[in-house]
Parts: sequence; structure tokens; C-alpha cells
Amino acid sequence: MIDIVHDLDVLRARIAGWKREGLRIGLVPTMGNLHAGHHSLVRLARGYADRVVASVFVNPTQFGPHEDFDRYPRTPEADAAGLAEAGCDLMWAPTVATMYPFGPEAAVRMHVPGVTEVLEGARRPGHFDGVATVVSRLFLQVQPDVAAFGRKDYQQLAVIRHLVRDLAFPLELLAGAIVRDADGLALSSRNQYLAAHERRVAPRLYATLQAMRDGLRAGLAREAVEADAARTLEAAGFEVDYAVVRTPSLQAPADGDRGERVALLAARIGRTRLIDNLEFELGPG
Ligand code: PAJ
Repeated sequence: MIDIVHDLDVLRARIAGWKREGLRIGLVPTMGNLHAGHHSLVRLARGYADRVVASVFVNPTQFGPHEDFDRYPRTPEADAAGLAEAGCDLMWAPTVATMYPFGPEAAVRMHVPGVTEVLEGARRPGHFDGVATVVSRLFLQVQPDVAAFGRKDYQQLAVIRHLVRDLAFPLELLAGAIVRDADGLALSSRNQYLAAHERRVAPRLYATLQAMRDGLRAGLAREAVEADAARTLEAAGFEVDYAVVRTPSLQAPADGDRGERVALLAARIGRTRLIDNLEFELGPG
């Protein structure tokens, strides 16, 4: 049985009870419309905690004025059932007024400098401030010992690592692997916006990431690999925001270097904007 909580006082009472019993608490922040990727984070957190809380909150402060806040899919009953099955103890589902008592416009905001200025941050001004704002609140509300985030949102994970380290939030971050459909498409709540013909070409994103990795490993120049990836996706009907290879710090690597890399894509197909990434090692020879 999963406990569904909307009220902050009730949440605090549950958390206080668990803390008194000496139980470790795990948190999985989500915006709902949950799929196997989210469920994998609940299972991951379960391995490090005695009780797992998943938050379900479509956060207005991280959406731009022309983004999909209003049409973002909201499926609380199915979310609760899926969370229960994944072993989640409590679904924290606050209203906007509970999360932002003075309203989203008057909210105290967090700003993480640096890593928020490139890639997603450059295309979605204020997005990561909204993420950092709501995640900080969730950390204060739930007071977790561990919190799990997915590698699907690579840059978001980097922002949250900076936030946790800089503010010394007393918790450990867990990073979950990207869960994909059999054809390689990374699971995302936004996949359901795709028309049938768009869904058929969407796996090209992952195929392109793999081709970027293979091209670099074969010794091709980074610029050539990036340009080729963008061209391939445009030819398949995508409008490409970026197709890049970076180091884990999200800086452009010096060509020929060895070490950890991440290829990152953001592209629009029809009205739907999808992101994906692939981490790999660039080894000797
Ligand atoms: P949301 O998009 O619902 O994602 C919640 C968590 O699930 C994030 O950590 C995300 O990286 C992870 N996730 C999504 N798809 C995944 C997949 N295919 N495989 C593995 N993990 C996946 O990200 C957000 O919500 C919000 O920005 C949030 C952090 C909740 C703040 O509002």
C-alpha cells in the first residue's frame, strides 16, 4: 500500500516518524506520468534506503512561457499504482500552492552558475534555476539520506551535483542508468506526444549517438562527427538544437585527448523536443 500525501504537515509527520525509528529515507523527484525509467530510480533508491518517497509535481518554475506546462501529461492514479509496484512507500504530491506558498512568481529562487549556461541552459533560460529551486525545496521537505536522479537528463544531474555540494545538503546522490525502449529510444514522458511516423524515426537519436561514439573512436575529428550527426538527423526530419561531444564537465574537449566523453543531442521532431546522451570512454588506439 502506498501512502499518497498532498499536505506538508502530513508529510513532515511521516518523515519525523521514520527518522525517530532510525530509518534511512530515499527520494526520487519526478514530474509524474511515470514510466520504467522512473521506476528504476525507485528500485535504485530502495537499495540504499529503508523508505522511499517519490515526489510527483509538475513544476511551473522550470517551464518557459511557451513550453508545455499546461499540456504536460498528468496521470496521478497510474503513477501511484506504478510506484506501489516498484516498492515506493509514499507519493508526495503537493499542489502548486503548497510548493510555492507565495506563488511561483514570488518564490525564493536558486541559481546555479556555470553549468547552467550551456546546452539546455542556453536554449531554455531559467529552466535549471526552476529545477534547482524545486529540488532544494524537496530536499528540505523530505530530508532524504539519498536522492536518485536519471542519467537521461545529464546536465540536470550536473546542476544538482553542484547544488548539493555547494549548499552541503546532507545527502548522497544516486545516478540511474538510462532506460530505453527495445528500439533504443530513451523513455520519456514526452514520447507520447509523438505521432506514429515521428515515433518510428525517434530511435535515430540513439543510433546517432552511437555513430558519434564510433566515429570518435575511429579517429574522426570531433567537429566532423558533430556536423555529421546534425546532418543525419536533419535528413531524417529532425530540427537539431545541438549535437555535441563534451567532457563530463560539459566543456568542449581538446581533440585527440583520451578520457571520458559524453555525446549529447537535443532535437525537435514535429512539436516534440527530445534529448538524449551517451557516455563513453575514448581509449588508446
Ligand atoms: P522527470 O522528467 O519526471 O524525471 C524524473 C527523473 O527521472 C529524472 O531524474 C530523470 O532523469 C529520470 N528519468 C527520466 N527518464 C528516464 C529514463 N529513460 N531512464 C532513466 N531515468 C529517467 O527531471 C524531472 O522530472 C524534473 O526536472 C525534476 C528533477 C523532478 C524537478 O522538477
